Amino acid sequence: MPKLEEPKEMKEFYTDNSDSKLETSTNQQDTNDFELEATTIWSFPDRGKWATHKGDYRGNFAPQIPRNVIERYSKQGDLVLDPMVGSGTTIIEAKLTGRNSIGIDINKKPLEIAKERISQVPNTTSSSHILFLSYARNLDKINDNSIDLNHLHSSYVRD
Ligand SMILES: C[S@@+](CC[C@H](N)C(=O)[O-])C[C@H]1O[C@@H](n2cnc3c(N)ncnc32)[C@H](O)[C@@H]1O
Repeated sequence: MPKLEEPKEMKEFYTDNSDSKLETSTNQQDTNDFELEATTIWSFPDRGKWATHKGDYRGNFAPQIPRNVIERYSKQGDLVLDPMVGSGTTIIEAKLTGRNSIGIDINKKPLEIAKERISQVPNTTSSSHILFLSYARNLDKINDNSIDLNHLHSSYVRD
């Protein structure tokens, strides 16, 4: 299998800081169906389908996972990082909950998917969301001590 080339620098792929509150092609399920978990043992047999979430990207989070983590460990206006952003589940949840966010992926394909899904979520809190094409360990365009919460799919982490 050909080895994926490590991007040499963080390349900005998409910035979302529109303040459009218009709902476009979002799903019908109401986010109010979400309930914060009371314990540390989580099970989501019914994957959340609100906003633009879909379970069609390999290994993507049920949206209940980033929603629980974001609600528990950050506050409105904070900056959330997902350095292996995939289809953008964490960023969609950051946008829905009024956090700012940065998403990084080494592949363009998931960034395209994430861009489409993030852009269709109404921005009710004027938050900002940036996607970068980059290797997760290359964070040189992110200011030191600026990240309030780092949330990622951990099975890929080696270094
Ligand atoms: C399991 S998916 C993440 C799914 C994501 N949590 C979601 O809900 O859609 C892992 C992602 O990490 C990316 N990836 C793997 N190694 C990476 C690396 N070293 N740097 C950046 N992204 C990486 C892959 O391209 C893939 O899109």
